[in-house]
Amino acid sequence: MSIDQPTASAPPEIFEAVEVNDELIAAFQQLIPQLSSSNPPPSEDELNNIVASNASRLLMARVDGQLVGSLTLVLFRIPTGVRAWIEDVVVDDVARGRGVGAALNNAALDLARSEGATTVDLTSRPSREAANRLYKRLGFEMRETNVYRFKI
Ligand SMILES: CC(C)(COP(=O)(O)OP(=O)(O)OC[C@H]1O[C@@H](n2cnc3c(N)ncnc32)[C@H](O)[C@@H]1OP(=O)(O)O)[C@@H](O)C(=O)NCCC(=O)NCCS
Repeated sequence: MSIDQPTASAPPEIFEAVEVNDELIAAFQQLIPQLSSSNPPPSEDELNNIVASNASRLLMARVDGQLVGSLTLVLFRIPTGVRAWIEDVVVDDVARGRGVGAALNNAALDLARSEGATTVDLTSRPSREAANRLYKRLGFEMRETNVYRFKI
């Protein structure tokens, strides 16, 4: 077994980041380039803004002592109820295929439920094949709607 292929032994520990430290900052420097080529990793101040807000809940995955994944659950109330969005799901390449992504999503669904949401939304480009397979396997269903974006 090579050193960069972790064993499937330890189940991932999923927790909500409530403070920013060097380990968290370093984890995002490692993870964000694996998610986006156009957005830099968040700075310490930006991470502080995320964890300070009740609307953005930063879930982290730890395996064998290392932070290997992240998911942000966005929660906000609108006139028709509590909205929940899953954003910025990423698992380090060396830890993929071991259920970390599934564990992060399941923890986000539990948290959304406990905050009063009755649905959870996300979008994923079709080219993200592993992600789309994962979401369908977890029970997300395609929804017929038009997704628009206005570029500022
Ligand atoms: C999508 C992503 C978060 C999944 O994380 P993960 O920890 O591998 O997720 P899981 O192990 O729970 O399941 C992922 C699926 O992909 C497969 N897979 C993904 N990468 C794999 C790898 N390197 N080796 C083996 N299988 C892999 C898994 O077997 C599983 O397949 P299945 O759904 O057919 O059973 C991860 O691939 C990732 O970070 N991708 C890049 C960023 C991205 O696309 N994010 C989603 C944005 S919408």
